[in-house]
Amino acid sequence: MLAVMSLFQLIVLFLPFALSASPNWMYLGIIGIPPPLQQQQASPGSEIEDPEIVQARAVCGALPGLASKQVDVCMSHPNAIYSVSDGAKKAIEQCQYQFRHERWNCSVMENEQSVFGPTLDRGSKETAFIYAITSAGVVYSITNACSSGKLTECSCDSMQHGQTTPEGWKWGGCSDNLHFGLQFSRKFVDGSEPTRPNNFKTTKQKRSWSNRLKMNLHNNEVGRQTVMSLMKMHCRCHGVSGSCELKTCWKFMPAFNEIGNVLKQKYGKAVLINRIVNETSKKNSTQIHKKTRETRALKRQKRLLLAESKELVHIQKSPNYCKQDFENGILGTEGRKCNSSSTGPDSCGKLCCGRGYKTRIVKEEEHCNCKFIWCCSLKCNTCYKNIEQQSCI
Ligand SMILES: *[C@@H]1O[C@H](CO)[C@@H](O)[C@H](O)[C@H]1NC(C)=O
Ligand SMILES: *[C@@H]1O[C@H](CO)[C@@H](O)[C@H](O)[C@H]1NC(C)=O
Ligand SMILES: *[C@@H]1O[C@H](CO)[C@@H](O)[C@H](O)[C@H]1NC(C)=O
Ligand SMILES: *[C@@H]1O[C@H](CO)[C@@H](O)[C@H](O)[C@H]1NC(C)=O
Repeated sequence: MLAVMSLFQLIVLFLPFALSASPNWMYLGIIGIPPPLQQQQASPGSEIEDPEIVQARAVCGALPGLASKQVDVCMSHPNAIYSVSDGAKKAIEQCQYQFRHERWNCSVMENEQSVFGPTLDRGSKETAFIYAITSAGVVYSITNACSSGKLTECSCDSMQHGQTTPEGWKWGGCSDNLHFGLQFSRKFVDGSEPTRPNNFKTTKQKRSWSNRLKMNLHNNEVGRQTVMSLMKMHCRCHGVSGSCELKTCWKFMPAFNEIGNVLKQKYGKAVLINRIVNETSKKNSTQIHKKTRETRALKRQKRLLLAESKELVHIQKSPNYCKQDFENGILGTEGRKCNSSSTGPDSCGKLCCGRGYKTRIVKEEEHCNCKFIWCCSLKCNTCYKNIEQQSCI
């Protein structure tokens, strides 16, 4: 294990470009939960510690990318951290699936503890999506762990067990208990936000820092609310020959994919708030200045509305993601496969940003001339089909 660890550190050291982006809890979705730290021998005379605390420290002390509030949450729920890692992994996979045809394809930097590099430093709508999907991922995995009895802190929801509804059916079975997952995600995911540095020089810096904090927390909550709004109900009938005299019902979460679809739609209509006004051009024209003052009240109203809104919000426009720019975490679309007959985001025109594309003929294997042989197998030949494949230049 030690050899593996040091190899890993070497890779980190020899990255081709150094980034300043900060470590992130989502990294647990990439590397999983590292083995607990070696427990140190208690020195003679020292107090005997609670073995549960020793165990929790061994697990939580080895985790990269956690903020101090998150370490605290881990210490009080050390078993839940395995679900956090699962949730982050699910979220990242879902993000890559949802964006597989887009210029920004949610790619991660495997050896970077910041996972998404400088992308998360921007308050763009891509960042809004990442926050929402990872926050939802944690709710999802924790809730699944509750239902399957993997956590001692929670179990499936039996609060309403046996109660009869006005419609005449009963709650029964094992309902997914979102309550604990939501609460956990609020403490853990929101706990990744750093406390405000106290070395800001201008109010503008302070304001933009607090805007970003609000944006993150809002989008985290949108992710959680999305899981909640997609809960489903299933009922089963009991009674003579399916007469449904007695009906028991329970609630369960949708497939994670469905949560991803809804959040992707929200990404499409994400709301840009508090556009940061360019100070120099603002100062130059008193007319513009007046205009901003007039609309300030309106803007505040809009912001208040947004605080309750179920939409994703962002505070910065996105770059076009066309050209490679490592410093800003942009891979560019050169070499990406595009589809010359599509009109969507994967069309060669859109994906290649008008630079053009090249076509390659690739051989694709397929089964052909299949014969049914008595009894019971199918025999096929392998045929090759030439297909055209386009990629951006
Ligand atoms: C602000 O506007 C000026 C002049 O229009 C421009 O040179 C400068 O780059 C802008 N600054 C930012 C941060 O956009
Ligand atoms: C500011 O406005 C004045 C007059 O409208 C113009 O002459 C000047 O070039 C502007 N300065 C900048 C930096 O845009
Ligand atoms: C995203 O696109 C880049 C090229 O721009 C490619 O190297 C990478 O493999 C893609 N990532 C995913 C997850 O598809
Ligand atoms: C390309 O786009 C067309 C039209 O949307 C679609 O029918 C086809 O399956 C796509 N081809 C590939 C290889 O994805």
